[in-house]
Amino acid sequence: MHWTNDLIFLCMLDKYLISMHNARMSHAQRARTSSDVCFVRAYAKINLTLDVLGRRADGYHDLATVMQTVDLYDTICLTATEDSRVQLACTKPELSNEDNLVVQAAHLVRQRLAIRQGVLIELHKHIPMAAGLGGGSSDAAAVILALQQWWRLHLSHSDLLDMATSLGSDVPFFLTGGLALCEGRGERVTALAPYWPRSMRWLLLLKPAISISTAAVFRNLPASDYSDDTHSRAVSRALNAGQTPQLEDLHNSFERSVLGRYPEVARAKGDLLQAGAPFVRLSGTGPTLYAPFSELANAQKVQEQLQSQGYEVYLSRAIHPNVVDVNVY
Ligand code: C5P
Repeated sequence: MHWTNDLIFLCMLDKYLISMHNARMSHAQRARTSSDVCFVRAYAKINLTLDVLGRRADGYHDLATVMQTVDLYDTICLTATEDSRVQLACTKPELSNEDNLVVQAAHLVRQRLAIRQGVLIELHKHIPMAAGLGGGSSDAAAVILALQQWWRLHLSHSDLLDMATSLGSDVPFFLTGGLALCEGRGERVTALAPYWPRSMRWLLLLKPAISISTAAVFRNLPASDYSDDTHSRAVSRALNAGQTPQLEDLHNSFERSVLGRYPEVARAKGDLLQAGAPFVRLSGTGPTLYAPFSELANAQKVQEQLQSQGYEVYLSRAIHPNVVDVNVY
């Protein structure tokens, strides 16, 4: 951006909204900015636990879930444009539309602060879609945080939380990321100490070749699969104390019904175990499964075996945003 354009751009922002103080921002999502371009990474998550407590009067479900950021990410580039539009160019054509949460996130920030500055959002997808890895939610949170930092907007944590919650139940988690217990619809986020068991140092993420609608999985969950929050609390307590959680507490209320309804997912779980994964769990509403490994060589061996069977498998790891140097790029 040239000097004059820079001036026009800044004038288009409401001057008292500009602040040097950014709200707490996940290190994983810290944006790299120059004057007219801003790059940001949007990381995926897995659910260590997912307890569905029951259906609410508003149609949503109360949850208790322990989520962890992993280092599979989408890359987003924001560019200031001369007009007042929000435009999206995505590497997945089916996501290049106004319904994409990144477009909605940009509109929301602009509306909230009456900003007219246009922006082009380029979205390079790596996180599988409709997979239970929170890709769309993470993209949305990353855009909110990037705009805040790039345009130096004065937005309180509660402003950020409001916008995030209105975009989706998982979006608030991605405002900070890391390891957290999420409750309510998912919007009540409590950070946990960034401890990760050695036995889970490496994570294989296997995405069966189907997409699953979150709403459909919630709708089809029988009340008999509801649980209380015992598992999520036990896992939170263990991790906060620097201990490895009990295997039986790594519980996902959806796993039974998703495996029953989608044979591809059940088959993939069996194949992961057969190939040597110590245990396998569903992430979110699926269909992605994750398996932890303590040794890279074992994880790689199982990954190669599964890939030779035609599966889409990512070798990943947990990211602790508070640990210096972990996520620098
Ligand atoms: O909040 P989000 O738009 O991501 O949710 C997608 C759908 O998943 C909702 O429309 C709802 O059907 C279901 N859902 C739910 N309870 C939650 C989160 C999501 O029933 N806590």
